[in-house]
Amino acid sequence: MRRDIERVLIDKRAIARRVGDLAAQITADLRRELPADEPVEVTLVPILTGSLIFVADLMRELPLKMQIHVMSVTSYPGRSTASRGASVEAGLTRLPESLAGLHVLVIDDILDSGRTLRLALETIQHRQPASVRTCVLLRKQRPEAMHTPVDYVAFDIPDEFVVGYGLDFHQRFRNLPFIGTLKHDLLP
Ligand code: IMP
Ligand code: MG
Repeated sequence: MRRDIERVLIDKRAIARRVGDLAAQITADLRRELPADEPVEVTLVPILTGSLIFVADLMRELPLKMQIHVMSVTSYPGRSTASRGASVEAGLTRLPESLAGLHVLVIDDILDSGRTLRLALETIQHRQPASVRTCVLLRKQRPEAMHTPVDYVAFDIPDEFVVGYGLDFHQRFRNLPFIGTLKHDLLP
């Protein structure tokens, strides 16, 4: 697996450090922004499957009361690595019918075209939460991603296809503990 990697962009230690810092920032923001008369509780909505490892690490660094409801959005990479569309997988969405009174934090692995995050937000907004914040592990340096509003970004990366720490290529490489690029002969 390691020999399929061209270059390590972000290593394990850098990820852990940044996830810790981001969690501290999110915690401080929520404590400041949420109504003082309520105990601070956050509702995490991770978008499967790519955010799995990120959310597992991030949530353990958030010293807040929380609930978690996963959501599955499929993007269609087709035969290339560029996403062409996104749809919510109804059967795999564990969102309650109503999110009234809840402060939601949507978590995704990577902001690329922005379709996945936009679709997730629409689905969540329909359920009328008290507030919604968005958080991504990675944001690609391309106009569509840079113009998509997002509250928290762990890392901005070049517009390259990456794998590891939850991100896949044809469902593989998610378990790499770092984020890296694939060798060119593997990519379409
Ligand atoms: P978007 O809908 O185009 O913003 O793409 C988001 C989804 O596409 C992510 O949740 C990933 O599953 C997938 N994706 C986009 N870029 C990459 C990449 O570089 N590596 C792995 N998956 C990616
Ligand atoms: Mg994917």
